Amino acid sequence: MKKTMFLLTVVASALSSATSVRAQDNAGNTYLGVRTCAGICHKTEKQGNQLGIWEKTGHAQAYTTLTTAKANDIAKTKGLATPAAESPECLQCHTLPASANVDVKEGVQCEVCHGPGSGYKGLSVMKDKARSIAAGMTEYKDDAAIEKQCRSCHNEKSPTFKEFNFQERWAKIRHSVPKNP
Ligand code: HEC
Ligand code: HEC
Ligand code: HEC
Repeated sequence: MKKTMFLLTVVASALSSATSVRAQDNAGNTYLGVRTCAGICHKTEKQGNQLGIWEKTGHAQAYTTLTTAKANDIAKTKGLATPAAESPECLQCHTLPASANVDVKEGVQCEVCHGPGSGYKGLSVMKDKARSIAAGMTEYKDDAAIEKQCRSCHNEKSPTFKEFNFQERWAKIRHSVPKNP
């Protein structure tokens, strides 16, 4: 138990310094985890069921992938002393930084792309996109900005990288709010 806690602390601190792949840090805001984002708001059909869509994407499985024999073989080949699921070198692209509110096992969660949510989670802020952005939600001005965010992980630093076709991949994970009829 003690050893587990120690390991978690090491991983957590290593992760919080490995922020290079994140879109932005949004000074002072903290991560809440997918269950908070989806707890009330982002799961109804009317809202676009972002939770349901996300759960069917590879992003929800990204941590579990690190627990496989294949992942551990890759970690070993890279000379890592710890299993893949405990190595910051792998976790940095396969989940959110660990914290009291975040379950790393949930993989690549909402706030990886939308920014840590503590500042913009309130309903009155969230209803208004401009206010959300002012409160720290990541802004995407166009497709090029979205693609840049994807490529912060989908790139040749990933040990299994082959290629990344943005339009094709984006179509697989899109989760817009339905337009009012
Ligand atoms: C924090 C890193 C990270 C970011 C940012 C990221 N991805 Fe991923 N993505 C992953 C990982 C890791 C997997 C592998 C999941 C698995 O199979 O375990 C993955 C898997 C996927 C898959 C499933 C594989 C497939 O082709 O069916 C799609 C689609 C995808 N990502 C699209 C995107 C798009 C589009 C963006 C940008 C909007 C994006 N990703 C941003 C890390 C990331
Ligand atoms: C720079 C970001 C990044 C890093 C670092 C990273 N991964 Fe990944 N990993 C990805 C992405 C993105 C995918 C999804 C690939 C795709 O679908 O194109 C992925 C997919 C995988 C897969 C599934 C691919 C398959 O073909 O089965 C495994 C296994 C994996 N990663 C293991 C690891 C291990 C082990 C480490 C640490 C040594 C690691 N990754 C580090 C981004 C990363
Ligand atoms: C891999 C990156 C990524 C992940 C993971 C992700 N999103 Fe998104 N999401 C985007 C991008 C990019 C857009 C489109 C640009 C924008 O509207 O800001 C978007 C759009 C949205 C929108 C629509 C905004 C609008 O005005 O139509 C909502 C709501 C949303 N995401 C919520 C979520 C929730 C909730 C989760 C987790 C269950 C999640 N997203 C996971 C990247 C992501």
